Amino acid sequence: MIRQLLYRSGQLCEFTGSDMAGLLRRARDFNAGRGIGGMLLFHDGLFMQVLEGPAAAVDALYARIAADVRHCEVRLLVRTERAAALLPGVPMAWAETPPDGDAPVFPRLENDRRALDLLARAGGDRIATAMRGFLQGAAVPEGGLGCARVAERVL
Ligand SMILES: Cc1cc2nc3c(=O)[nH]c(=O)nc-3n(C[C@H](O)[C@H](O)[C@H](O)COP(=O)(O)O)c2cc1C
Repeated sequence: MIRQLLYRSGQLCEFTGSDMAGLLRRARDFNAGRGIGGMLLFHDGLFMQVLEGPAAAVDALYARIAADVRHCEVRLLVRTERAAALLPGVPMAWAETPPDGDAPVFPRLENDRRALDLLARAGGDRIATAMRGFLQGAAVPEGGLGCARVAERVL
């Protein structure tokens, strides 16, 4: 069994393209060395990330990420065990979808098509459903900044 953990948070500082590229590069190195995989999503100043891998390693990484001062309102949405990873063999995939009419904030970072395909094919899986919804600007469950920002835009 592997641990699967889903959280969402809000961007606190403005990340430049090279900040985000560096974050992803370091994350991929770190995660690959510990058998952790997953995907980081960005939409309208908000993050959602799934982490998958050995339970102790995933919990320890989440504790580090949650303490990172570059984001805020970190909300754990799901922490569960499953037989196989939703996104096998992906140290940390990336996707950004800008709100309608906006340009991407990180145009040089390519969306990971393979991971997006896996999310699309995962059907009613609750994590995949939450991630697909997040990328389309759906209200994020559990309140906090994420909901407030999404509601602001809707109103
Ligand atoms: C949204 C977000 C997602 C992150 N994802 C990862 C990740 O998957 N793996 C990782 O090693 N660090 C990730 N980080 C960076 C960690 O929070 C932390 O900076 C890094 O592990 C270095 O930790 P340290 O400063 O305690 O050495 C992420 C940071 C943010 C803001």
